Amino acid sequence: MVITQATVKDMEGVLALLKANHVSNMTEEEKKNGFVTTNMTEEQFVRLVEEEDGVTIAKDGDKIVAFALAASWDYWKEWPFFQYMIEILPQNSYNGEVLTTKNSYQYGPVCVDKDYRGQGIFEKVFFASLSNMEKRFPYMITFVNKVNPRSYAAHTRKALMDEVTQFTYNNNNYWMFGCKTDNRP
Ligand SMILES: CC(C)(COP(=O)(O)OP(=O)(O)OC[C@H]1O[C@@H](n2cnc3c(N)ncnc32)[C@H](O)[C@@H]1OP(=O)(O)O)[C@@H](O)C(=O)NCCC(=O)NCCS
Repeated sequence: MVITQATVKDMEGVLALLKANHVSNMTEEEKKNGFVTTNMTEEQFVRLVEEEDGVTIAKDGDKIVAFALAASWDYWKEWPFFQYMIEILPQNSYNGEVLTTKNSYQYGPVCVDKDYRGQGIFEKVFFASLSNMEKRFPYMITFVNKVNPRSYAAHTRKALMDEVTQFTYNNNNYWMFGCKTDNRP
């Protein structure tokens, strides 16, 4: 298993894994093991790689089996959901500091192929992504949907995140989590 930063050549594999885990393509049974709600176009993927170096992947041979996305708020601001997070960010503090779009970035979505879950790949991809962003930001911020208990368990137990606040957007309830980018298990 290789953990590395993705290049544009990895687009097909990452977007296929994102699509397979998108809430709109899953059965109720599948959703019990987690789902993502963020969509991404090919153009957005290319910018994420080229402008943010924001895609960390796990590869088993040529197969992309996991990814974690991460980028500045400036990159994410075109999604209405992230515009809302940007709006509420300065109402919250982490580690005694008011959160801003300059001292934090947004990580996620993250996906592990269903055949590779429960094997420690989530932590490896998450901490590689965190370490890659450490040179740019002191704090990582993310969100977890309250009806995604597997994601909650993974992020609080394996990624060691702290609750920053809770919020509601479009009738869905979320936790906002944070951690320092020099956080390590
Ligand atoms: C969320 C995800 C990235 C976590 O990766 P993973 O390899 O499954 O993570 P792990 O199995 O190591 O850890 C998950 C923890 O949740 C627990 N868990 C599993 N299913 C669960 C469920 N239905 N409810 C609550 N906890 C659950 C596991 O037992 C494990 O904890 P443990 O190792 O202490 O027992 C992966 O499941 C996934 O890609 N899901 C679909 C997409 C998604 O939800 N992404 C996150 C939202 S952006």
